Amino acid sequence: MRKIKIFDTTLRDGEQSAGVNLNQSEKLEIARQLERLNVDIIEAGFPAASKGDFASVEQIAQTVKNCSVTGLARSVMADIDAAWEALKGGAEPRLHVFIATSPIHRQYKLKQTAEQVKETAVAAVKYAAKKFPIIQWSAEDASRTELPYLAEIIEAVIQAGAHVINIPDTVGYSTPQEYGNIFRYLKENVPSIHKVELSSHCHDDLGLAIANALSAVENGATQVEGTINGIGERAGNAALEELAVALYIRKDHFNAETRLNLKEISRTSSLVSKLTGMVVPANKAVVGKNAFAHESGIHQDGVLKEKSTYEIISPDLVGFQSNSLVLGKHSGRHAFKNRLNELGLAVPDEDIDHLFKVFKDLADRKKEMTDDDLAAIVLEEKLTKEERFYDLISIQIQYGTNQVPTATVTLSGRDNEIIQEAGTGAGSIEALYNTLEKCMKEKINLLDYRIQSVGAGRDALAQVYVKMRYAGKETSGRGLAQDVLEASAKAYLNAVNRVIYVGEKSEVVTSN
Ligand code: KIV
Ligand code: ZN
Repeated sequence: MRKIKIFDTTLRDGEQSAGVNLNQSEKLEIARQLERLNVDIIEAGFPAASKGDFASVEQIAQTVKNCSVTGLARSVMADIDAAWEALKGGAEPRLHVFIATSPIHRQYKLKQTAEQVKETAVAAVKYAAKKFPIIQWSAEDASRTELPYLAEIIEAVIQAGAHVINIPDTVGYSTPQEYGNIFRYLKENVPSIHKVELSSHCHDDLGLAIANALSAVENGATQVEGTINGIGERAGNAALEELAVALYIRKDHFNAETRLNLKEISRTSSLVSKLTGMVVPANKAVVGKNAFAHESGIHQDGVLKEKSTYEIISPDLVGFQSNSLVLGKHSGRHAFKNRLNELGLAVPDEDIDHLFKVFKDLADRKKEMTDDDLAAIVLEEKLTKEERFYDLISIQIQYGTNQVPTATVTLSGRDNEIIQEAGTGAGSIEALYNTLEKCMKEKINLLDYRIQSVGAGRDALAQVYVKMRYAGKETSGRGLAQDVLEASAKAYLNAVNRVIYVGEKSEVVTSN
């Protein structure tokens, strides 16, 4: 069997999804879970993009031990230096450096000739090779690049010291046959190609990302890149869980295997969905809620007689469990801590007492406590730890079918001062949000509001996601509570607090 490396870019390309902004502890939480999933490489961010990105990449590189951690850099010395500073303390510092190679990008974006692009690429790789033991080089928009030129620049960067060559279908334009042909062509026309790993990186604009990545594997790729749940720029990236399961289920066809621990897929998908606020569609392959549900009578009958009639993936393979009742109000501290460990939720010892209290309070009010509830309360507590500028003290809302909804809000402000306001709106949420806005110094535009229940049942927790513009910056936030209005207020404050936190701790250095 051929070994296929899995390169995860959830924290870099995935984080570029519109409306997603993860903080440092959320990124670390995802990186830890990716380590449990056993991906080969984690792309932790773009260190030169901002101080926040730099700090996250550095922390992840120093924490994760069983995967190689990499960071992105443009072909400029300052980016490569920033990546080195962030990654040098890691177990296997690896650089991911890129430059656009297609005629469209050369002419309009870079304003460089093909020869100049080649020189820039070679100079960047040579510079990086003085620092990094492993260098991945990407030809942005490779799939729209002239093949002879692509082969020429790849040979040059291999000579300059690149170890992995990545062929992005940056705008998701290729078809499976075309994309596979690029790999075949490069294998036949780049003299030093046998010295390097060949990698695919597919975007899903035409819904072909998985098909393209698998075609790359069939034509010689030894690494596939993608993100959990397929999140990423525009229509997203190839979904890693789909790639890994396709390779596993159809090993007879691909004759290739990954080192992924497939049983961690479900948990990883759900963590990424919770932290990014990007809901997994129910019919999504491998991780959708309905991916293993058999609805029609004929199918149910078939599955009862013999599972393989309609089921090619066992839910168990990807760690999919029905949401079992795990703990209740009589559960002790020890059982609580054990379950968090089993769920892979890293909680420092000093936080356990507080979290156990939150759990007990909730268990008193809620009949059933599931794994989803536990994960939600742990993530909620972590969420607010770093970013508590405005804090919710209380809300009171009045709503009646023939009355004007009114809200009264009490907050503690940035300097611990008490802020109290009252306001009205056309509905309860609007009254609440109008009143919260009165408490803030800046104008707020709400761009999106979504509410989800955590698990089932009338007493399920409410998880609210908001996207807004605050102080001229787009931000998102989430809030969890048993009551939808309280969850809404928390999500609102979380979004505002993130802007203040980023402003104070991590001013933007460059962006691309
Ligand atoms: O899609 C793309 O081209 C990229 C590169 C930076 C690798 O994400
Ligand atoms: Zn990409």
